[in-house]
Amino acid sequence: MSEQKGKGALPPIGQVPEKMWAQVISGDRYGEPRNAFRMEEVPVPSIADDEVLVGVMAAGLNHNAVWAARGYPLDLINMMKLRDGATLDTHIIGSDCSGIVYAKGSKVTNVEVGDEVVVQAAWVDDADPWVQRGTPDSVIAPSARAWGFETNHGSFAQFCNVKSRQCLPKPARLSWEEAAVYMLCGVTSYCMLYKFPPHIVQEGDVVLIWGGSGGLGVAAIQLVRNSGGIPVAVVSSADKAAYCESLGALTLDRSKYTHWGPLTAEDVLPGTQDKWAKAVRPFEKALRELTGGKMPRIVLEHPGSDTMPTSIRVCAGDGMVVTCAGTSGYLGTFDLRFLWLRRKRLQGSHFGELEHCVEYNNMIADGTLSPLLTHTYDFEEIPKAIQSMADNTHPPGNSAVRIGCQA
Ligand SMILES: NC(=O)c1ccc[n+]([C@@H]2O[C@H](COP(=O)([O-])OP(=O)(O)OC[C@H]3O[C@@H](n4cnc5c(N)ncnc54)[C@H](OP(=O)(O)O)[C@@H]3O)[C@@H](O)[C@H]2O)c1
Repeated sequence: MSEQKGKGALPPIGQVPEKMWAQVISGDRYGEPRNAFRMEEVPVPSIADDEVLVGVMAAGLNHNAVWAARGYPLDLINMMKLRDGATLDTHIIGSDCSGIVYAKGSKVTNVEVGDEVVVQAAWVDDADPWVQRGTPDSVIAPSARAWGFETNHGSFAQFCNVKSRQCLPKPARLSWEEAAVYMLCGVTSYCMLYKFPPHIVQEGDVVLIWGGSGGLGVAAIQLVRNSGGIPVAVVSSADKAAYCESLGALTLDRSKYTHWGPLTAEDVLPGTQDKWAKAVRPFEKALRELTGGKMPRIVLEHPGSDTMPTSIRVCAGDGMVVTCAGTSGYLGTFDLRFLWLRRKRLQGSHFGELEHCVEYNNMIADGTLSPLLTHTYDFEEIPKAIQSMADNTHPPGNSAVRIGCQA
């Protein structure tokens, strides 16, 4: 620790300073990520009885940083004030990290000061009656928040406050940077593929994965392969295709097709429906050829507006399209006939429960899964890194930011 340099350097374990460095968003800078962040010295967050103060060694980059920086579709700073009574005019985001416990509240029993942890992003109030009743699915409890997105102190800082249930043991085999990158997207993909029976990926199942080289995508490829399924990764460039193929996926390049975007009324009317049907056919044909005629039993959706009509159409009869986002827009359209006539299922999904995080962390710890870290940035480079994500020019695989740890 004494060798650390720069703004991320942490004090000796257990010594909590009054101030810390953070990459901060404020409402008057909402816009392109390169301009939205500023490195500022701000107070270290205080902790409640059931919370832990984590000294951040490394943070993981996620696409939600793009939405937070733009203040779109939600002005999150204002939303946290209105909904949760937050008082800050600033937002420190970041929903993945690895770090060291620096302090803990009086009710915390699962970690000690000095423990090395990874943080999972499901922030939920244990006093929430939903949680007290033992109701499963706490991610949809009234108090549930995406930590580092819908809370003020995420991981793009020297310190962050988290609920103690968010802390899991850092797998010893991983570097700080590797340990910071897998939890949010990994657990989300894990639940999309295994949480909605009977649509659980099985041997021989074709799974269509949009954004195959992104955070969700690389986790999904590994999971599908481990279950003996056939991952088909959709990408938009040759280098992303090569990366996904190196993980064992078949690939399709979406830049070769033109039928993207929401359907219009004309696309489902008898006199005019042929136009879209004709436009989607080359993609459908390429998919069929790639898999030997087998269509996807599960489609892992997140682009939304651009791809939903195709997802519902190419999904196999009795299959499931499962979605967790609207990366290209929220207008989800499709031709209902493909859904009901072939008894397909459209399923929403959002992150996962603590048990799924524990299971995923264990699979990373024992080497069943890899964090797939491909790029590491310095603390100062966060605006540039998030901008590349907004521009879809970020490298394939997962990226980390060094904060307390050094190269
Ligand atoms: N609800 C949840 O719990 C949850 C959890 C994690 C992430 N998410 C959301 O899921 C989405 C993906 O996250 P991520 O971390 O995987 O992001 P990412 O690493 O940035 O990857 C997104 C991928 O989407 C593809 N893409 C972009 N625009 C597209 C379009 N118009 N049509 C088809 N594909 C497109 C890109 O691949 P190509 O250009 O190569 O096709 C890109 O690699 C984000 O919106 C994120 O906020 C939700």
